[in-house]
Formats: sequence, C-alpha cells, structure tokens
Amino acid sequence: MIKVEIKTTQNRYPVYLQKGILELTGRMIKRYLSPCPVLLITDKNVSGHYAEICRQSLLREGFKPSTVVLEGGEKDKSLQSAFKLYGIALKEGLDRKSVVLALGGGVIGDLAGFVASTYMRGIPFVQVPTTLLAMVDSSVGGKVAVNHPRGKNLIGLFYQPSLVLADMDTLKTLPPREFLAGLAELIKYGIIVDKTLFQQFEHFAQISGKQQQREQGKESGFLQLDNSTLLKFITKAVLIKGKVVSMDEKENGLRRILNLGHTFGHALELATAYEYYLHGEAVAVGMMLAANLAAKLQMLGEKDAGRISALLFHLNPPAPPAGLTAKMVLNALISDKKKEGEELVFILPATIGKTVVCKSPPMEQVESVVKKYLNNHFL
Ligand SMILES: NC(=O)c1ccc[n+]([C@@H]2O[C@H](COP(=O)([O-])OP(=O)(O)OC[C@H]3O[C@@H](n4cnc5c(N)ncnc54)[C@H](O)[C@@H]3O)[C@@H](O)[C@H]2O)c1
Repeated sequence: MIKVEIKTTQNRYPVYLQKGILELTGRMIKRYLSPCPVLLITDKNVSGHYAEICRQSLLREGFKPSTVVLEGGEKDKSLQSAFKLYGIALKEGLDRKSVVLALGGGVIGDLAGFVASTYMRGIPFVQVPTTLLAMVDSSVGGKVAVNHPRGKNLIGLFYQPSLVLADMDTLKTLPPREFLAGLAELIKYGIIVDKTLFQQFEHFAQISGKQQQREQGKESGFLQLDNSTLLKFITKAVLIKGKVVSMDEKENGLRRILNLGHTFGHALELATAYEYYLHGEAVAVGMMLAANLAAKLQMLGEKDAGRISALLFHLNPPAPPAGLTAKMVLNALISDKKKEGEELVFILPATIGKTVVCKSPPMEQVESVVKKYLNNHFL
C-alpha cells in the first residue's frame, strides 16, 4: 500500500493508493476517526459499482453509513444540492464528530467537501476518488466548492480532508473518454515540474503508438497503460500536488503553476456553455494553446512546444466544435478574468519541467493561437 503524507497549515493527512482499498474503507478510516454516523455521498454512475462495497466495509467497523445517490454532473455542484444534503445530515443525526465521505469524481468530491466544511462549522471529511482526475488532482489539496449560475466554483473554501483512499480498481469502469481527460491533468505535472515524468509519458506514447499501428482501430494508446505504470504515475502526481499545496495552500503564488492550460481551458468551457468539453479535455487543449503561445512569445523553444503538443495529441483532444469562433473564446477569456478582478494571466511552459507567469500578453498573439486551434492546425 502506498501512503503519501500531505502537510498543510490546517492539518496533515494521508493519501492511500492501493488496488482494492475500497473493501477496507471502514478499517482505514478507523485508524484516524472513531466509529460514528457517516454521510456517504455518491452519484448514480458510481453507486451501482462501489457504494455497497464501501457501505458494508463501514458497517463492519461499527460506522453508521447513510448513502445519498445524486444524479451526477456539474449541475449537482450547487447550493441547492448542498442544502438538500444538510437536511439529510440533520435527519440522520450527524453531529460535529460525524463524517462526510465523498465516493466519486471531482464533482462529488467538491460538493461533499463543501458540505463537510460548512455543516456545523466543519466536520471530518474523507475523499474516495473514483476518477483519474479526482485521484491526481481534485481529491488532494482541499479546494471545495459549488457553482454559481454566473460561474464555476465561485462559492467555496479551502478545507482539507482527513484522509484520501484511492482504489485504482475503480478506474476499470471509468469511461475511456473520462480516463483520457484525467490523464491530461497527470501529464500537466510533467510539463510544469517534472521532466522525467514527461519523458516517461513520451516513452509510453511511442511504444503504444507502435502497437496502435499494429492494432488498427484502437483508441488512444494511453488506454493500454498497465496497472503498475499507472500506479507510479498517480503516486508521482499526488507527491507533486502535495508538495505544491504544502508550500502554498491558498494559491497565493506557487500553487498557480497547477493552472497551466486552465486560462485557455476555462475560456473554451465557458464559450461552449460547459457542454462540449470535459474539464480535462479543455485543459489538454489549453496546454497545447499555452505551449504554442509560449513559443510565439519566444518563452519556450519550438521543439519543446512541439513535444508538448505531440504528447497531448495522444489523448485524442476534441476538435473545436462547429460554430465556435475566436471572438467567442477571447470574450470568454476576458470575462472570466474580469470576474476575478484580475489582468489576463497565463501560466506558460518555459521548458519541459518549468513554467513562467505571463501577464497580459499581446492579444493578437493570443488570438492567433486560438485561431490555429479553431482551424484544426494543432490536431
Ligand atoms: N477541487 C479541486 O482541486 C479540483 C481540481 C480539478 C477539478 N475539479 C472539479 O472536478 C470536477 C471534474 O471532476 P471529474 O472529471 O472527476 O468529473 P465527475 O465527477 O463528473 O466524473 C466524471 C464522470 O464519471 C463518472 N464516474 C466517476 N467515477 C466513475 C467510475 N469509477 N466508473 C464509472 N463512472 C464513473 C461520474 O458519474 C461522471 O459521469 C469539476 O467540477 C472540476 O471543477 C476540482
């Protein structure tokens, strides 16, 4: 069993990574928290596969779980859902020593964490991530939030979990498209701080690329990642995220490097009303745009920009949707930043394994890379 310790100003907590750990949920939680009522929050795609395993494990160790199955999807990250969950928690008799458990992807994790952080001024919270994105990103670091009709994640806070239990076996049922979207966030760590990790991905892409030529009709070669390699990659990601978060928990500086590809990515999501791209897909395209912009601004060599785009291309990032124009993307870029009361800031790769902060780059350069993507010249 792999254990990564995350240290923050709020607390210190472990992330356990292990195939089959779901069966041990109760036992693992009991190491840190006494048996108590648990509000197990999940969604309808996850519950059929894993809720009962988790619930039985909690019962075996003397916890009293109540399961709530939500519809799933971004619309669940709302104050209305949180309000409904407070009501259930009260009805089930959860008190300040009770636990909220998030079993699912980033949507469930963000919402359940928000509920835990506000219910009775904050009760313990356990993350059991079941998507790759949640394992390598959202379950670690304590950002919890719900959406507002005017934007994503606008109502939230920093609230760290008591522990995180990541069971790689759950990824077996994850749709391939979701898996590849999560991999984008994983590759991001290679681009921002870990050249070796990036090279390992490149190496894998080359091997699987060759295999793909032999096995016609296969989707991305990354879908063939074997369990032990995947475990190494996930562990590396959690270590990196943990280190960044421990140095800058509230995103005053360093933590911003985790936003590589997110300025463009959020604009693409906003301009398409959150209906076309998965979050990780928008980040993948955003990282390609960021690499291209960096090369244009001579902050990154052409060769490295090409390597970044080539690697991300293996994730099958979506082609732009019909009707999406550069103006729509630029408007989204600007409005998103205005909302934050900030100038336009991009985290750009400076080389593989290092980033640079770029404030207010010339808009014609930004427009030109957006147009390149919209004209399908990246893909
Ligand atoms: N808190 C953070 O630091 C942070 C970081 C990145 C993203 N996020 C948030 O995370 C969310 C995206 O997370 P996500 O990509 O995990 O999306 P998600 O939670 O919507 O999960 C993706 C889909 O996969 C399904 N699913 C989950 N696990 C499954 C499994 N094992 N088998 C089958 N189906 C499964 C879900 O039901 C859903 O349909 C966004 O709301 C984003 O804002 C938060």
